[in-house]
Amino acid sequence: MTQNYRITLLPGDGIGPEIIAVAVDVLKVVGNKHNIQFEFTEALIGGAAIDATGEPLPADTLDTCRNSDAVLLAAIGGYKWDSLPSHLRPEAGLLGLRAGLGLFANLRPAKILPQLIDASSLKREVVEGVDILVVRELTGGIYFGKPKGIFETETGEKRGVNTMAYTESEIERIGRVAFEAARKRRGKLCSVDKANVLEVSQLWRDRITKLAASYPDIELSHMYVDNAAMQLLRAPKQFDTIVTGNLFGDILSDAAAMLTGSIGMLPSASLGASSPGVFEPVHGSAPDIAGQDKANPLAQVLSAAMMLRYGLNEPNAADSIEEGVLQVLQRGDRTGDIISSGMNLLGCRAMGEALIQVIEAK
Ligand code: IPM
Ligand code: MG
Repeated sequence: MTQNYRITLLPGDGIGPEIIAVAVDVLKVVGNKHNIQFEFTEALIGGAAIDATGEPLPADTLDTCRNSDAVLLAAIGGYKWDSLPSHLRPEAGLLGLRAGLGLFANLRPAKILPQLIDASSLKREVVEGVDILVVRELTGGIYFGKPKGIFETETGEKRGVNTMAYTESEIERIGRVAFEAARKRRGKLCSVDKANVLEVSQLWRDRITKLAASYPDIELSHMYVDNAAMQLLRAPKQFDTIVTGNLFGDILSDAAAMLTGSIGMLPSASLGASSPGVFEPVHGSAPDIAGQDKANPLAQVLSAAMMLRYGLNEPNAADSIEEGVLQVLQRGDRTGDIISSGMNLLGCRAMGEALIQVIEAK
């Protein structure tokens, strides 16, 4: 029997439309092989939405997302919109989408592929075998805490304010996701905080520690965020699953991504309690190379694989994509961000075609 899924596509800005086009072609091919049919609906977000409607997240877009089985997002933002006030910037669209769909859990895997070890800026012996999952809390913390704003003090000076806050229940629900994820991996969880300075982190550490009693099979450790940043560069193999708040997770997931050589390879999944998940590359919209057919579409394609695995429960189709990606890398196909000597340099579209070829040949 054919499975039907409604997928909302959010191409966004910069390289977004190019890379999502590749992912859609790949999904169609994989769908044919696995008896899956996709109904794609495109909607506006970010700068593209600002230009068309004046807002970064039109109500229509949120409705379309809510009425679908999963959302595939590319990237948002660009120089053009950088001087707008923060609630009208493209980023506000992304934050609104996360909040609107209640996507509190962001999974960002960073796994070194043997084919790309030489693309890493770190030594082979440091990064070989690295396989980390960052579980980032996504709808709380300093990104959403109140009060926030730029206020005037009594002396007429401006004062910028954001608030880092977590409730026990917010900590507990992301903690559960992380413990469960660690259970499916190597059984190690490192919770990252700044409990030596911040009260919000003391509560975080306390709740995560209490939660550990329900997961006796998981080896829990705690680390301060500054040390975690250092350890990620010094000895990344010590990490299996990391759980942390919104801001620390934003920063550490970029660092973890770079261990693998290129942020252009890494997908992510944002999941809520019941709403459709959003699947997107960790990288941004790369306005400097937009429209030039130079972008690496693989993070977007691997995000489509995460969508199949975590959003639609179609693990075989997800495997098919992930194996295909390994195969194109194995035969030496590379986009500019991961090129090394002796490899074939391909553009975005050609990389997509190469991938489709190996998937069809299987
Ligand atoms: C990310 C991005 C976003 C974030 C920006 C674009 C709002 O950096 O997804 O990591 O800070 O969460
Ligand atoms: Mg980020």
